[in-house]
Amino acid sequence: GKVRKPTSIISTICDDRGDELSYAGVPISEVCKEQYNMGDVIGLLWFKRKLPPYASKFFEMCLKLVADHGPCVSGAHNTIVAARAGKDLVSSLVSGLLTIGPRFGGAIDDSARVFQDAVDNNLQPSQFVEGMKSKGKRIPGIGHLIKSADEIDKRVVLLKDYAFTHFSSTKYLEYALEVEKYTLQKANNLILNVDGCIGVLFLDLLHSSGLFTQQEIKDIIDVGYLNGFFIVGRSVGLIGHALDQRRNKQGLYRHQADDVHYAL
Ligand code: ACO
Ligand code: LMR
Repeated sequence: GKVRKPTSIISTICDDRGDELSYAGVPISEVCKEQYNMGDVIGLLWFKRKLPPYASKFFEMCLKLVADHGPCVSGAHNTIVAARAGKDLVSSLVSGLLTIGPRFGGAIDDSARVFQDAVDNNLQPSQFVEGMKSKGKRIPGIGHLIKSADEIDKRVVLLKDYAFTHFSSTKYLEYALEVEKYTLQKANNLILNVDGCIGVLFLDLLHSSGLFTQQEIKDIIDVGYLNGFFIVGRSVGLIGHALDQRRNKQGLYRHQADDVHYAL
């Protein structure tokens, strides 16, 4: 019989053979004709399906709301320093991107994991918080350096409002808000932050929309799709910062020595 040549790569998201490129089976002419937005394109290339408008709008909202948070945050700071050292656009961009991680912007997947686990195990918010504390772990998705119960993060307000209006269930969000009530008793800045809010809203979307099988939901959480929203969104702002420095012909950055505590 026929023996198929073994392939080195398996690809399941797109096809560039033939006359026309397609994303998850959708030809790019249709992507343009039907005016797919970036949320729709992420739906195709990450989730391998055309999502209903309320879901791709939510994706777009996540991208838009995390696109930038000023020049002082870790990512923008790195990008600015690299751009001022004369580095090219890609180097300046990745210098900023490399700060995205468990403390900054990259807590979305982990927050989805820990909040899902807490809800699945019927933990009271206090049990969940104290359990994490006893393990010596910070709760991903809780806490902010400048936002607090008094300095509310408008991004979180907008995301919550969208979910309350468009999602069929907000069970995980409601749980996270109970956790926030508890952590706020400990300190004013232990809010549900933008990473945590996106993480729990994805749990609500995945579990209540009927769009995904249990196995797909498991894969999305285990593989870790969700930090990708911060990475893609924030790239827009980081590129803006790199261009801004170059446009303004900013010279090499050197940190002020009087802002360093030399403690040899
Ligand atoms: N869970 C539990 N306790 C916490 C948490 C948390 N997530 N964050 C702070 N605390 C408590 C701890 O007791 C901490 O003391 P420790 O240093 O002994 O652990 C104490 O508050 C002091 O913390 P702060 O000084 O407020 O924390 P800091 O300002 O250093 O950190 C940060 C802010 C990094 C965001 C922190 O809250 C954190 O690690 N959160 C979890 C990660 C996260 O969600 N990051 C995303 C932030 S949003 C974004 O980047 C877009
Ligand atoms: C961000 O979006 O960059 C942040 O929420 C982090 C910060 O310190 O503002």
